[in-house]
Amino acid sequence: MRILVINGPNLNMLGIREKGIYGSETYDDLIRFISDICDELKIEAEFFQSNHEGSIVDAIQSAYGRFDGIVINPAAYTHTSIAILDALKAVSLPAVEVHLSDIYKREEFRHISYVASACIKSFYGLGFEGYRLAVLALKEHLGK
Ligand code: DQA
Repeated sequence: MRILVINGPNLNMLGIREKGIYGSETYDDLIRFISDICDELKIEAEFFQSNHEGSIVDAIQSAYGRFDGIVINPAAYTHTSIAILDALKAVSLPAVEVHLSDIYKREEFRHISYVASACIKSFYGLGFEGYRLAVLALKEHLGK
């Protein structure tokens, strides 16, 4: 089982940005956290982070035929990007949405997730733990 973990804009700033919301652990800490889980579960994981919408679309398209599933935190593009939604639908790989914070308890503009309708599950407000649950949800879904 091979999964692609995609993180969107400003998630490379974890540990620096709005620590009260996102915590003090860094993006590298997050990658280590997910890698350890995947190693334990014998899942091959690749990681991609970009601050650019089109690059995220490209990464999703390039996952077609190469990965069994996608874990995605599109960050701010969650609330704006029909292009990312369409890319997820185009490749039709099982995808799980993750947000570190609870987007439904924050500003109203964060209450809309365009990508949610292309995802088999969404986890939000659980910090790094959401990524663990996302990997497990993909594993269960794929029956691997
Ligand atoms: C986020 C929530 C988004 O609203 C925000 O724009 C982010 C991070 C989260 O992980 O909680 O950048 O996706």
